[in-house]
Order: sequence, then C-alpha cells, then structure tokens
Amino acid sequence: MDRRSLIQAAIDNLPNAYAPYSHFHVSAALLCRDGSVYTGFNIENSSYTPTVCAERSAFFRAVNEGKREFEAIVICGGQDGVITDYCPPCGVCRQVMREFCGADFTVILAKSADEYKETTLGELLPMSFGPENLAG
Ligand code: THU
Repeated sequence: MDRRSLIQAAIDNLPNAYAPYSHFHVSAALLCRDGSVYTGFNIENSSYTPTVCAERSAFFRAVNEGKREFEAIVICGGQDGVITDYCPPCGVCRQVMREFCGADFTVILAKSADEYKETTLGELLPMSFGPENLAG
C-alpha cells in the first residue's frame, strides 16, 4: 500500500476518536507485512488512566487478529480533530511498538496526505528494551 492511502486511512478514521475529556483526537493506521491495514483511535475514560491511545488501539486490534509482523504506522491528531501539527507517539506506545517491531519499523507523522514526516522506531526509541532482552 502506498503512503498516501495509508495516511488517508488514518485521517478518515480521526472523526471516530472518543476523546470527550481532552478533546484531543488521535488516529492511527497500521500497515501489516501481509498488506492488511488496521486503524485505531484514542478511547478515553472518565477515570482517565484506562485511556488507550490510538496507536495501541490499532496494534491491539491487529494482534488480536493474529498479526505479528508490521511495516509502518501513520499517526495524526489534533484538538477537536483538527490537525494543525504532527502528533508523535507517547512513550508507552513506542514501547508497545517495540514488542512487535524492530528499529526499522516506519513511523509516519502526518498533517495531510502531502505533508508528513517519516521516521523509524529506532530513532524514536533508542537503546530500547525488547523481547530479546528476556531471551536469556
Ligand atoms: N494520545 C494518543 O492517542 N496517542 C499518543 O501517542 C499521544 C496521546 C491521546 C491520549 C489522550 O486521549 C489524548 O491523546 C491526550 O493525551
């Protein structure tokens, strides 16, 4: 799948975000190695801490469907669903990505299908702790 379509999938999913407390809507589109795409958005909670980010929503949907290999994720978001800036993934989401992805996993921060920044998990989470550290 090309970059534009993956970015568009994330943008199209943004209005679905459930963010009645922060009003900060985030959406993600996760591209699996087999070509399938899983979207996710943030789901907030009145008790605050159970809130789940868009990236983790996308990953957990995919992992629940048996997917384990991933190529790229697009993330976009903004106040009231209006994208004005890039939305980098939080530290917890970076660590969740690390569970299933290596340093070369592509992370695309998008403002629109034409305006985006591409980086890697290795850049976002250097010297990380991952499954290999427990392999003995
Ligand atoms: N949020 C995400 O969905 N992903 C991130 O990586 C950063 C933060 C959400 C969580 C919360 O619902 C809102 O943005 C404000 O923090």
